[in-house]
Order: sequence, then structure tokens, then C-alpha cells
Amino acid sequence: MHSIKTVGVIGAGQMGGGIAQVAGISGFSTIVYDQYDQAITKCQALHDKLLARAVQKERMTQQEADAAKERIGFVSNLDDLASADIVIEAIVENEAVKTELFAKLATMLTDQQILATNTSSISITTIATAAGAAADRVIGMHFFNPVPVMKLVEVINGLATCPEVTKRTIALAEAMGKVAVPANDRAGFVSNRVLMPMINEAFYAWMEGVAEPEHIDQIMMLGMAHPMGPLRLADFIGLDTCVHIMDVMAEGLNNERYRACPLIKQLVSAGRLGNKTRRGVFSYEK
Ligand SMILES: NC(=O)c1ccc[n+]([C@@H]2O[C@H](COP(=O)([O-])OP(=O)(O)OC[C@H]3O[C@@H](n4cnc5c(N)ncnc54)[C@H](O)[C@@H]3O)[C@@H](O)[C@H]2O)c1
Repeated sequence: MHSIKTVGVIGAGQMGGGIAQVAGISGFSTIVYDQYDQAITKCQALHDKLLARAVQKERMTQQEADAAKERIGFVSNLDDLASADIVIEAIVENEAVKTELFAKLATMLTDQQILATNTSSISITTIATAAGAAADRVIGMHFFNPVPVMKLVEVINGLATCPEVTKRTIALAEAMGKVAVPANDRAGFVSNRVLMPMINEAFYAWMEGVAEPEHIDQIMMLGMAHPMGPLRLADFIGLDTCVHIMDVMAEGLNNERYRACPLIKQLVSAGRLGNKTRRGVFSYEK
């Protein structure tokens, strides 16, 4: 397998958009696919805004920003990912949707391409199994939000992942300026296994009237030196995504203690998903 030059990204949302941006800035030719044209338009506009801001703040020159923009292409057909050396999937956190996509990718891509998933919680082995004969090229590449800022990439092997794929994925993460840390394939890996119960407990504390949401966050920020309180962080991640992750952990780890608090589910059913809908626990200006 040759070294990675072209990065494909599936899903132009919060995470996919960030991964594509960092890949482009890091010098990789980048191809972004989303099934919704609207998501692509939104992602392009956000990239333009972030690059303009980086130039304004003198974090990069206009020339560098133009070159990064030039390297990132947007496509509306999965076949257009054929030239990518690695495809990083960042679509909705839903096992059925992800496995369907990986089954499709396995039939259409070449046997040289790495199939990475940015899943927060779903078993890499389960996703890899859907890819059939391509299972040895499937790996977890778990970026953190916001991707341009957060240094960590959790790298998770499935049962069948071949060592060469792991090596190249780690090299890509490092070339994107990240630190790759390994974790084993258990629901939630390490990051969400530890983070989600804390977020969930903050919702229980709010639901039981222990303190107001802003005070819960203030206590965790000032007392534990967290840069952001757990409730604001949940808004940032997306309350729907948090519920999906907790459901996967409850089932995957066979333990109901990981199940989402009723209050977070209620906010999700009310369409209060966090920053992306401008209202979750807190309200956000447009
Ligand atoms: N939000 C976070 O903080 C965070 C952090 C780490 C990992 N993740 C994981 O990253 C993934 C994406 O999360 P997000 O927050 O970016 O979600 P998002 O809702 O912002 O973006 C998902 C994108 O995928 C697209 N999409 C959905 N189904 C698709 C399909 N079948 N084919 C192509 N495109 C499709 C949607 O149009 C949307 O643009 C999830 O697996 C999530 O668990 C999220």
C-alpha cells in the first residue's frame, strides 16, 4: 500500500467538514461527499468563513488559504471517492445507516483503499463485518470536535484490521497535526466511556433540581478545571448524538447504567438538539 495523498470524507456535517478542512490545510487533496446538497453548500460556506478568519488573524497567508481551498473538492456522487487513498466516514451515528454504507463502499472502492469511520461509539468490528472481504481495511479514526482545534484522534482496530492499515492511519493522523492514541474496540472506546456518564449525570443533577444548568457547568469548570461545562459540551456535541452514543453503550456494554437520562431524551424529542438547532440546554444566537 502506498502512502496517503488523497483523503475522502463522507458526511459534510460538523465533523466531516472539520476533518476535510484540516486535511486540506495539511496538504492533502481532499474530496468531500454528502448525500444532501444543502449540507455541502453549508460546509463550503463554513470553510470559506473559517479560512477568511484564519487569514484575518494571521494564522495563515491568503495564498495558503487559497491553496487549501483549492485542494478541497465537493462531490455529490459516492463513485467520485474512487481516487481517495482513505475514506473517512462521518455520517449520522446510526449502526444500520453506517453498515449499509460500508457494505456499499466495499463493493465500489478498490482493494487498496482504507475505510475509516469517525463513529463515537459503534463497534468497529460490526461496521467492518458489513464490509465483508474489505474488513481488514476498516479502522476507527475518532476525531474530536472542533476538529481544527482538538489534538486527539482515538485509533481503534476492529478484530480484522491489518497492521499496515493501522500504521498508515496513524501516519495520516500525525500528518494532520494530531496525536493518535490507541483504544480497543468496546462500545464508546475510552473517550465516550468516561465522558458520557459525566454528561448524563449532569442532566440528572439538573432534572432532580440539584442546581440550575449554568451552575452545574460553572461548578465543573471552576472546580474541576474543565474548559467547558458538561451541559454546554452536550449542546456542542449534539444532544441527539449523545443519546445515540449512550444507547450504543447501554447495549454494547450490556449495562443500563449507560442509558440516557429522560431529560436529555425529552429535549431531543422537542427538537432542541444543541448548537446545531440553536437551542439545547442553552439558547444560542444565530
Ligand atoms: N459531534 C461531535 O462532537 C462528534 C465528535 C466525534 C465523533 N462524532 C461522530 O461523527 C459522526 C458525524 O457526526 P456530526 O456531529 O458531524 O453529525 P452531523 O449531523 O453534523 O453531520 C452528519 C452529515 O452526514 C450526512 N449524512 C447522513 N447520512 C448520510 C449518508 N448515508 N451518506 C452520506 N451523507 C450522509 C448528513 O447530511 C450530514 O451532513 C457521527 O458518527 C458522530 O458520532 C461526532
